[in-house]
Amino acid sequence: MIEVYGLTKMFKNIKAVDNLSFKVEEGEIYGLLGENGAGKTTTLRMLATMLKPTSGTVIINGKNLIKEPEDIRKEVGILFGGESGLYDRLTARENILYFAELHDMDKKEINKKIDMLIRKFDMTGFIDKAASKLSKGMKQKVAIVRSIIHDPKVMLFDEPTSGLDVGSVREVHDFIRLCKEEGKTIIFSSHSMSEVEKLCDKIGIIHKGKLIEEGTIGDLKEKYKTDNLEELFMELVGDKVEV
Ligand SMILES: Nc1ncnc2c1ncn2[C@@H]1O[C@H](COP(=O)(O)OP(=O)(O)OP(=O)(O)O)[C@@H](O)[C@H]1O
Ligand SMILES: [Mg+2]
Repeated sequence: MIEVYGLTKMFKNIKAVDNLSFKVEEGEIYGLLGENGAGKTTTLRMLATMLKPTSGTVIINGKNLIKEPEDIRKEVGILFGGESGLYDRLTARENILYFAELHDMDKKEINKKIDMLIRKFDMTGFIDKAASKLSKGMKQKVAIVRSIIHDPKVMLFDEPTSGLDVGSVREVHDFIRLCKEEGKTIIFSSHSMSEVEKLCDKIGIIHKGKLIEEGTIGDLKEKYKTDNLEELFMELVGDKVEV
């Protein structure tokens, strides 16, 4: 379970994340929806201990992010869209190995796990090729395996489908659903309501760092008396709406 209370991040005088509070239950996919610059990546980077909050409290599976960052790192996996951040000169396998070693995993255990995941994600054809030689979709598969190699209970997805073709998008969506079936606690960020609608149990809309609306798809449709949530989202984050 993820509990976020008053999370705030200042970059000099810019409030990138502004007093954000929300909860995500085990086995739930929470959609963090917002336009470019809304604060999605900053929020997820803080939850993954990659960035220090300016203020606020985060509790992940009972552990405090500020006081026990090492424990949080074991609990959390993160997958970014766009640039996969792989080392070009290492092979796909070496990239995964390197990351697993950072998590202090046992070498034997890592190799067993990688073999299992290679089969699961159909990666035998390119696992020993240099990352620089891989297509975007292949790279994203390597990034997926890298994000779950330590078997985290919490998965964070930051626009994980950006730049992928229809087939690869489907594979990423299937992977997210699989994580849900396994009972993981999941946050999925996107700027597309239709994508979030497809996957998420609950949605939080953020605008200029603030949570301006939250609820299930059903809640929102009922509250605003509309079936067109994409349009609703545009209205909510449009400049004409004062928040
Ligand atoms: N390292 C940084 N230094 C200074 N400002 C930053 C930094 N990272 C993000 N920001 C600012 O914080 C705000 C939120 O950015 P963030 O990347 O979290 O948004 P986002 O919702 O992920 O947007 P996008 O959809 O474009 O990825 C923006 O105003 C951005 O310019
Ligand atoms: Mg972002």
